[in-house]
Amino acid sequence: MESSMKDRLQALEKRFEIDVQEAETEAALADLKARYLGKKGVLSGILRSLKDATPEDRRSVGRLANVVKGRIETKLLDARAAIERTAINVTLTSDWTDITLRRSLRAVSVKESGLHPVTIVQRELEDIFLSMGFDILDGPHIETEWYNFTALNVPQTHPARDMQDTFWFKDMKHLLRTHTSCIQIRGMEQKKTPPFRFVAPGKAFRCEATDASHEAVFHQMEGMLIGKDISVAHLIYFEKTLLSEIFNRDVEIRLRPGFFPFVEPGFELDINCLICDGTGCSVCRQSGWVELMPCGMTHPNVLISGGIDPEVYNGFAFGLGLDRLVMMRYQIDDIRHLHSGNVDFTRQFADC
Ligand code: DAH
Repeated sequence: MESSMKDRLQALEKRFEIDVQEAETEAALADLKARYLGKKGVLSGILRSLKDATPEDRRSVGRLANVVKGRIETKLLDARAAIERTAINVTLTSDWTDITLRRSLRAVSVKESGLHPVTIVQRELEDIFLSMGFDILDGPHIETEWYNFTALNVPQTHPARDMQDTFWFKDMKHLLRTHTSCIQIRGMEQKKTPPFRFVAPGKAFRCEATDASHEAVFHQMEGMLIGKDISVAHLIYFEKTLLSEIFNRDVEIRLRPGFFPFVEPGFELDINCLICDGTGCSVCRQSGWVELMPCGMTHPNVLISGGIDPEVYNGFAFGLGLDRLVMMRYQIDDIRHLHSGNVDFTRQFADC
């Protein structure tokens, strides 16, 4: 009796070992557990049949049955852990997030990236101005009416103050600066005592229709030099030196009278259109000339607004159109390309 029971237990364990290897899911394991260890399972059946055995047989077979039961339970747990591991591995290889992806994308783009052409030209200009002893200043995009207009001697009736030309804030006291000239005033306030010279690059905003050479958002570089006994001759010499540095060659220029409330006298400095070589194109509006740098001798009222005594000091100021310069440099025939967000366009400058 005892040996046949032991044989049955051994056979049961062997069969279980084959079955457990074939079970591939947790549901199959649960099924197996019920089949072997459940109340109506095989092991319970064997134990139930012990009821007629001698107490000794019952004890020894019972002990062996418990050992077999323990081993089966352990193997079931092992099999379950293996199934879980397999499931995790499957998920890891099929459904995973590469947390290094952003970095690897960046690594790729580092190769392909580059500065925007406006930034390239702005930085080059900054270097040229630094070498000429200018400081580089900055100012806010959101300005007050005082800095943008009043302090710059722009009369109340000037059309630039119009709702149509300027992006005003609802309070009608603040606006998006229409030029970088506001930094003339901020610069004088900061520098206090002449002589000094500085440039201020940045964005300017105008509420106007766009075309090949006009945009609502564009870039300027304001410049100012204040000292004693400064003349138009200084201004012209300075501009010629600057432009030959910028274009790396002699550029034809012309000076026309121009009106800007913050300078007196005021000038328009034009350069020969480098896109069409002066023969006429959409950028120069068929004139062969491109307005590049309005300038003039600083108006005494502006010096007063900046806290400088016009009886003692004078100087000049100029406004460089950065986008125009970029267009000349790279022969771009439409300003709207610059901020189109078209990567195919900007990528061309990646190695510049
Ligand atoms: N702020 C003027 C504009 O945006 C440009 C300008 C003209 C600046 C004459 C100057 C200047 O400094 O002297 O149209």
